[in-house]
Amino acid sequence: MTHFYSAASPTNLKELINTAQEMKKNPLQYQEIGNGKLMVLLFFNASLRTKLSTQKAAMNLGMQVISMDMKDSWAWEFEDGVTMRFDKAEHVKEAANVICRYADIIAIRSFPSLIDQKADYEDQVINNFMKYSTKPVINLESAIRHPLQSFADLLTIQEHVKKANPKIVLSWAPHPKALPQAVSNSFLEWMYRAGHSVTVTHPEGYELDDEFMKGHMVEYNQAKAMTDADVVYVKNWSPLSTYGVVTNQSEDWMITKAKLDLSNKSKLMHCLPVRRNVVIADDAMDSDHSVIYDLAENRLHTAQTVIYSILKGSL
Ligand code: CP
Repeated sequence: MTHFYSAASPTNLKELINTAQEMKKNPLQYQEIGNGKLMVLLFFNASLRTKLSTQKAAMNLGMQVISMDMKDSWAWEFEDGVTMRFDKAEHVKEAANVICRYADIIAIRSFPSLIDQKADYEDQVINNFMKYSTKPVINLESAIRHPLQSFADLLTIQEHVKKANPKIVLSWAPHPKALPQAVSNSFLEWMYRAGHSVTVTHPEGYELDDEFMKGHMVEYNQAKAMTDADVVYVKNWSPLSTYGVVTNQSEDWMITKAKLDLSNKSKLMHCLPVRRNVVIADDAMDSDHSVIYDLAENRLHTAQTVIYSILKGSL
């Protein structure tokens, strides 16, 4: 059984991208494949794009969809062998087995605690669900990865940058709250799988996990990193060294149009939601550099491609 968990999940990435391009041209061409099948979406955290795009993607393929806000369900226990005397009412073993009696595909969003790095990087919620699931599971953003976002990132870069070896920059930007590393981790993992080396720029102390930095490089000077960039992907993440604690909110790192104008007519990308004039300035968000809405649209086509491939048995 195939789960869609990380950049390693697709057997043939080139073929998956080709399918997404074809799916985008005619989104309703495979309306029969999901007939009589149910997708269940479990949200432990908030979402706009992921919830809407995944639901619509499943519906375009003829599936029925039930989306659950997990605040309305029982609190789950994820550890095995625990005496469940306290606040956890149901073990993930029962929950997964029961949901699999109803659903044909299950999709899960679960953010990290940002308190316990070791537990977060074990990706406990989705890994334990997959352990007991008898049906394919799609990662809608787990503690450390956001593969559906990254697949859309890759498709958008291929559409907008017609170069064999584009210069791709991942720039940290300030944010008042501690945010996960999942989008950045996954972006790097997917770019590596696609054969791209990314220049990552961030303040010292904001280094990403070595596992995800494989094949990429760090440039602490943002201006230098952005010189000649074809793509500037912007994202905040909180530091690993002082886990979950924001230590830098310097406005100097905010992305502005002036910074983008110094690059190689670069395409500005962000996964959204974004805090305007904190992470990215209005003049950059609303400039010709931005392909942010194209990227958000591609969340639909790439999610549909993943669901289609699972239904077809070709992921
Ligand atoms: N980019 C993204 O995952 O958006 P949502 O959190 O709104 O789903």
